[in-house]
Amino acid sequence: MTVTRVLTGITTSGTPHLGNYAGAIRPAVAASRQPNVESFFFLADYHALIKVQDPARVQRSTLEIAASWLACGLDPDQVWFYRQSDIPEIPELTWLLTCVAGKGLLNRAHAYKAAVDKNTAAGEDPDAGVSAGLFMYPVLMAADILMFKAHSVPVGRDQVQHIEMARDFGARFNHVYGERAGREYFVLPEAAVEANVATLPGLDGRKMSKSYDNTIPLFAPRETLKKLVFSIVTDSREPGEPKDTEGSALFELHQAFATPEQSKQFAQSFADGIGWGDAKQALFERLDEEISPLREKYEALMARPDHIEQVLRAGAEKARRIAAPLMADLRQAVGLRDLRDQVDARSTTVAKAGRPQFKQYREKDGQFHFKLVDAAGEALLSGGGFESPRDAGVLVARLKLEGANGLSEQDGALWLGETRVGVLADGVALAAATSALAAFTEDDA
Ligand code: TRP
Repeated sequence: MTVTRVLTGITTSGTPHLGNYAGAIRPAVAASRQPNVESFFFLADYHALIKVQDPARVQRSTLEIAASWLACGLDPDQVWFYRQSDIPEIPELTWLLTCVAGKGLLNRAHAYKAAVDKNTAAGEDPDAGVSAGLFMYPVLMAADILMFKAHSVPVGRDQVQHIEMARDFGARFNHVYGERAGREYFVLPEAAVEANVATLPGLDGRKMSKSYDNTIPLFAPRETLKKLVFSIVTDSREPGEPKDTEGSALFELHQAFATPEQSKQFAQSFADGIGWGDAKQALFERLDEEISPLREKYEALMARPDHIEQVLRAGAEKARRIAAPLMADLRQAVGLRDLRDQVDARSTTVAKAGRPQFKQYREKDGQFHFKLVDAAGEALLSGGGFESPRDAGVLVARLKLEGANGLSEQDGALWLGETRVGVLADGVALAAATSALAAFTEDDA
């Protein structure tokens, strides 16, 4: 049974609108209920800081978005639901990725390029008003995705390039650090752009978007919802005149909230010349029918920020159970290491000189093992079975220092003082192992 990991982030810079609901929240909540799917949804509040410098708005938006997802049926026990800034491993990974990310690739990121093009057209310095945060946006996003080894990232078309960049940074990291360790640290994610997910038109008929100021807030009070629906643009056709469904914002909005059968009927009323007022009333009723039970939950949640805070913190704890061990592994990979653990550096120099060396590796069971091989590469002893590479490294370091004099054999096992080390390789005498170990202390001299 293969499990697909789906991950997506929501920037906490605004209030969810109908377009977010139909295009992202509703399909994501439905997908999270499928078997064999592990869903990761998080509030991208670090990303919000790139465009919003009003702290109250960032906080408010975080609360509203969290409450919206929960009101729409997201079950935090079934998924990973957390706030990006509660995971310190994310900025930590961002830096490691920054150091393998090509600057030239970042120069080509759409959001950054658009800002540069605009400045250039205005005769300004190309980077005028552009923060390094905007420039680095794709690296932070790659850290979000790679940290949790997501396979699939549902995003809008405008974000596809960012997923490609995440693949690029992840592949570079795998190449630079994974090859010598014989490992792939990161899964390379795919963008999932749903062809049949609705992009909704806004009040003016253009795509519903904060930047056009044409949105209908998802949880606007009922009266406001009605007012907004009645302000949707229509043409000047009179009641009785047949109307086009094609290109009608009213019809498209209705379609996103209706069954195919209901849509067919609505199309028929258009052909029959329904008046715009009646069509708007029908749309309002259709919307309110779906939204009002959710709105009730939303309002109850918004009244309890303490509860939402607790849900998010529990979510962060759950997410960090994945992020923290991976980050420890990655620190090891790049050389941010415990200085007592000299394994790799030593074994490479020793190997070059044709000396005995330790080899550390990870078994299929996920545990860390090592073996000591002689100058010809023949195994002398093996040991380990540790949860962390660091523990294996500490024992290897002790063997190098104390093994020549301290290693003993008892009941078919090797011991270093009170510590069980492992076993000798078949047909190898204890003396062969201890004399090989002596090479490490000679090295120090
Ligand atoms: N950049 C995304 C957006 O604006 C939000 C986001 C941040 C995201 N990190 C992510 C989406 C990781 C998917 C995966 O829509």
